[in-house]
Amino acid sequence: MGIVWEKLYARRLEWMTTSVIRDIFKVIQSSDIISMAGGWPEADLFPVEQIQEICHYLLQKMPRESLQYGMTDGFPPLREAIAEYMTQLGIPAKKENIVITSGSQQALDLMGRIFLDEGDSVLVESPTFLGAIQSFKAYGVRFVPLPLDEEGARVELLPELIERYHPKFMYLLPTFQNPTGVTMSLERRHQVIEIAEAMGVPILEDDPYGLLRFAGEPLPPLVALSLARHPRNAQEGAYLEGEVVYLSTFSKTLAPGLRVAWAVCPPELAQQFVMAKQGADLHTNALAQTIAYEFLRRGWLSPQVQRIRDTYLERRNAMCAAIEEYFPPQVRYTRPEGGLFLWVTLPEGMDATELLKEAAQRKVAFVPGSPFFVDGSGANTLRLSFASVPPETIREGIRRLGEVLKAHLG
Ligand SMILES: Cc1ncc(COP(=O)(O)O)c(C=O)c1O
Repeated sequence: MGIVWEKLYARRLEWMTTSVIRDIFKVIQSSDIISMAGGWPEADLFPVEQIQEICHYLLQKMPRESLQYGMTDGFPPLREAIAEYMTQLGIPAKKENIVITSGSQQALDLMGRIFLDEGDSVLVESPTFLGAIQSFKAYGVRFVPLPLDEEGARVELLPELIERYHPKFMYLLPTFQNPTGVTMSLERRHQVIEIAEAMGVPILEDDPYGLLRFAGEPLPPLVALSLARHPRNAQEGAYLEGEVVYLSTFSKTLAPGLRVAWAVCPPELAQQFVMAKQGADLHTNALAQTIAYEFLRRGWLSPQVQRIRDTYLERRNAMCAAIEEYFPPQVRYTRPEGGLFLWVTLPEGMDATELLKEAAQRKVAFVPGSPFFVDGSGANTLRLSFASVPPETIREGIRRLGEVLKAHLG
């Protein structure tokens, strides 16, 4: 009788969507287009020679650790090295607090597996990271949008939203947010931790860009503020009590193709991560984990991060200067102090998706902002990435985009 595949799909499939951004990429795939659309880091900054040297060493000295099946929670020396590194950043952690994941993207999905039932609510910043919307959506959840301004998520709105919708957790990107590039102020960081504790709603802090600060003063991650409120953590030098699950990744500092990231959480939750991950992929790629470990052990991460910061600072400056020169004055934009992205707000009534077609004709591309909003708003916004385009090309791209905007705004 043959198979009619679509009659067999699980209900879950109705909730799943493909990335709108990837669909947009199909439209703008052309070698002569200046694309400020992608969220990819600059490939010329990948530490290729160092990784080559490490691979050679690993296959000679540690072939078993690099090629054999490994532990679900990760290569123990890597977990230890990351725990030490987190502790240096003010997040007391031991190996038991660290779970290595296949990219932070997997950690988002595992959070869904562990916490989300159909019909549950998840609070997200509005706009927020598309990959998180995709991951959580697959569990049949409802989103509660929390608006942002130039100081980050508007945490003063939280108590009312929590009372009304009872979200399972709040997904927050306090540092160089994707897509807006905005960073949450210190005052709001303290407030959100107080609210999380008082109202019993955990925070999922996603921090892939925190290390990529190229201007301004560093701010503590939410997890550091949370752990400092519970004296036992510092006493034991480990994460025992707190309100935050913290995620970070080597994707923006080493290379995203390695797919090595980590979660920091209390040991009891780490156990749940392990159970959820076992069924997904047994463990994160062993060779990639040993590469990351060797990179850290040799002390190569800091200089690598510095190279990235220097490059991105130059590119952000080039983008902001070109915007000042070429965009009409009615257009607003953020000036991020780190990360990869800058956010543009056009006057009300304009539609960035429509503009993209005109921009593509002039061989320049960006990502329209509306897919990043869970409530269908944001038609007049767009995201620009300065990470993977050289300064002169950025200038030309912004000039072309300025022409498109001026055609509408005079
Ligand atoms: C906010 C945010 N979270 C998570 C990820 C996924 O990172 P990974 O490559 O570690 O899966 C990204 C990647 O762009 C991101 O921007």
